[in-house]
Amino acid sequence: SSMEALSLSPPMSPPVILTQDELKKIAAYKAVEFVESGMVLGLGTGSTAKHAVERIGELLRQGRLTNIIGIPTSKKTQEQAISLGIPLSDLDSHPTIDLAIDGADEVDPHLNLVKGRGGSLLREKMVEGACKKFVCIVDESKLVKYLGGSGLAMPVEVVSFCWKFTANKLQNLFRDSGCVAKLRKDCKGEPFVTDNGNYIVDLYLKKDIGDLQVASDAILRIAGVVEHGMFLDMATTVIVAGELGITIKNK
Ligand code: 5RP
Repeated sequence: SSMEALSLSPPMSPPVILTQDELKKIAAYKAVEFVESGMVLGLGTGSTAKHAVERIGELLRQGRLTNIIGIPTSKKTQEQAISLGIPLSDLDSHPTIDLAIDGADEVDPHLNLVKGRGGSLLREKMVEGACKKFVCIVDESKLVKYLGGSGLAMPVEVVSFCWKFTANKLQNLFRDSGCVAKLRKDCKGEPFVTDNGNYIVDLYLKKDIGDLQVASDAILRIAGVVEHGMFLDMATTVIVAGELGITIKNK
């Protein structure tokens, strides 16, 4: 009977629910499998990239990786890498990077990204723009239908000089998408200051902004803008860790 069939089947194991941080770690460790000895590596910033940097440090310590040079994308990552004993350099000395590993805030179906919720978008864009391969690591919560679609901020780094002027220009540029531009504040309520001494204006969008390349060009033409957090056509691979496993998307 069906009852017997049921009792003969192996006991069902309880579902394992992974935390978001465990998923981030799974994606990060998978990405580090792409790292080979002798590589110049772009080291990303954020809670996901942190796991990758940690793992690279561990493999170096164990002698399973040798001759690595790291190019950090923020002061925070630089500190972490130094504490792990990862040899570091910069883009001036190493204008070509073999591989960068970094997180993202949003990933669209074409592997375009939003980055910069951690505020490191300028250095990330410089380093990841100089990479032969850029492996982006995310948990599945970062997947969106279109950039801005998470309802969370699309960051723009601006000079502090008359930031309101720049913020207004940005808000007007995307008024058809219901854009609201806000100055990012730190935990003390003061303007958040980037590693480069600039401010961040966060754009909140109600709908998509259309052609991303057109939007990118328009943002960069506004005087006062330093860089924005849309990373268009830059990721060569995206590793997504989800409850059902790892998905690797290649461009
Ligand atoms: C920092 C970034 C980060 O990669 C992005 O914010 C994702 O962070 P996390 O891995 O903590 O979710 O772009 O500027």
